Amino acid sequence: MSQLDPPNANAEVSALLEENRIFHCSNEFKSHAVVKNADIYQSARENRENFWAECANKLEWFQKWNKVLEWKPPYAKWFIGGKLNASYNCLDRHIKAPLRNKAALIWEGEPGDQRTLTYWDLYREVNKLANAIKSLGVKKGDRVAIYMPMIPEAVIAMLACARIGAIHTVVFGGFSAEALKDRILDAQANLLITADGGYRRGNVIALKNTANNALKDCPCIKNVIVVKRTNTNVDFQPGRDHWYHEITKSVADYCEPEPMDSEDILYILYTSGTTGKPKGVIHTTGGYMTAVTLTTHWVFDLKPEDVFWCTADVGWVTGHSYIVYGPLSNGATQVIYEGSPDWPERNRFWKIIAKYGVSIFYTAPTAIRAFMKWGTDWPEGCDLSSLRLLGSVGEPINPEAWIWYHKYIGREKCPVVDTWWQTETGSILIAPLPALIGQKPGSATKPLPGIEAKILTENGTEIKEGGGYLALTSPWPSMLRGIYGDAQRFEETYWNKWPNGIYFTGDGAKLDADGYFWLLGRVDDVINVAGHRIGTMEIESALVDHPAVAEAAVVGIADEIKGQAIAAFVTLKEGNTSDKKMEDTLKQHVVEKIGSIARPSKILFTADLPKTRSGKIMRRLLRDVGEGRALGDVTTLADSSVVETLKKKYEKET
Ligand code: WT7
Repeated sequence: MSQLDPPNANAEVSALLEENRIFHCSNEFKSHAVVKNADIYQSARENRENFWAECANKLEWFQKWNKVLEWKPPYAKWFIGGKLNASYNCLDRHIKAPLRNKAALIWEGEPGDQRTLTYWDLYREVNKLANAIKSLGVKKGDRVAIYMPMIPEAVIAMLACARIGAIHTVVFGGFSAEALKDRILDAQANLLITADGGYRRGNVIALKNTANNALKDCPCIKNVIVVKRTNTNVDFQPGRDHWYHEITKSVADYCEPEPMDSEDILYILYTSGTTGKPKGVIHTTGGYMTAVTLTTHWVFDLKPEDVFWCTADVGWVTGHSYIVYGPLSNGATQVIYEGSPDWPERNRFWKIIAKYGVSIFYTAPTAIRAFMKWGTDWPEGCDLSSLRLLGSVGEPINPEAWIWYHKYIGREKCPVVDTWWQTETGSILIAPLPALIGQKPGSATKPLPGIEAKILTENGTEIKEGGGYLALTSPWPSMLRGIYGDAQRFEETYWNKWPNGIYFTGDGAKLDADGYFWLLGRVDDVINVAGHRIGTMEIESALVDHPAVAEAAVVGIADEIKGQAIAAFVTLKEGNTSDKKMEDTLKQHVVEKIGSIARPSKILFTADLPKTRSGKIMRRLLRDVGEGRALGDVTTLADSSVVETLKKKYEKET
């Protein structure tokens, strides 16, 4: 079995794969679908701005825009002159309508506790927190950091910021104190919203204590609001720290939504790039809200009666676009769950689906591969008949996992939408409209209406059929507007590869004869571990930060479940011993610097790293070694014995 073979691809799955089948939705599905008419692709292509303007019209604007798009590559402005508020569109719009008492969030904590907030409940909570935040002196344009477990208050905090025009920057709760500090400092946030802790696999994750460590070096933070979730003992700094339940008690329950310019910043979200420093991706209000509202409705075929469940964490862009802004703006009812899929048993997700009648389920290939490994008994023991559509996001889904998902979770009745997008794109760009585009397992299919994607060669020549770089060749409303505080990096990372405002995605892809896109993974020094993006440089910087380390090189190697795993090649300074203890110390050091998502699964000690004559580390060779392959071309290597020694040593150790 090769490393990419699925854990338990049985004979039935293999047979289906060989058929090379295109999966079409049922006639029943099609007759009720949100988008049934394929002409939309053509009409959007003919008048892209008009298409997007019609989509924007589905939002409620305080003031209409006077120009749809101004495109001075790489700087775009959408719906110029328009004024709106994201929280108003997610809440106020619905509480005036029959949706007032519809469930907005059905939340389940990992220990089994539950809360349901209707739109009216959520509206009230958001208004109160918005007033509380205002009372601390936070104003429009200020940055607010949010470091939370998956509890309703995470959503409330984001919407409360949006309501008053403060810019939120959510930091995933699994990040370390140091990672939190870096992001707070880069954004110069003046308020942090956090919780005493959260639950994960039966343990308490002590967020406030981690935050306290981060805040030692964050003079910009003037106030901290703390949600009581786990009743953990926390160090409280009087004057600076406030309990959420106290500060929201005596405030007014209505807060006027700030009329935001379409191009005012809604949020900053940090994501990894090819340097050691994460990038603060900027999203603005009008275009972003337009695109997430549309794609939630169309790609997931969302109807008022659906129960939508996206399993992402609000700390990632998927949580921003497809838990908070997209579904709530559509008035959806959704499930959110705090914890781990295997707690207390490996059927937790399936039990949740059965319990709340989830009809649309959106998760990551890594999770699907883990479910495959755990076996079909777990889902078969639960009633999944409420499901009618499945989604996948975050990394390429291998055809075996796709077919397994379709067969054992979707019971061969649910379309599977594989959705390609990025933190930078803000919303789904390549995915099927489920009633219109037949699905090929492993392909994200075609660009959505209003989106133009192409495969280009290094020098920008278009490839009509075959592999190359995935490029986006015209602007779209939810595109990133910049990198916070670093215009140069914005231009260099995305826009300088080819001329004329063509966006470089960093992904390789191929186009087949039917015009379907097949994503092939990153082509830059970014790896995708379990659907989470991590820069190899970031991990290398964390490693060399340890006093025992002289040099480090990190590569992604194929992993059965996570897609990619982290392998680190480390040269120690003289006088240090390369033993198991050192390996554990260094892994722990990375966890402390970044967080457990960046923990290397393997550390290999080596006296030298393979380098070209000009001193560049040859990562390709390290990947060959890491994945146990025969060595590729070593002719450009300064000292070819280095890699042979490394390979021998590595083979012995694994
Ligand atoms: C990178 C973006 C999109 C939200 C979650 C990740 C990879 C994402 C797919 C997919 C193949 C995918 C790409 C992309 N990716 N979705 N359906 N098929 N690859 O957001 O952390 O910004 O990462 O994830 O490599 O560039 P992100």
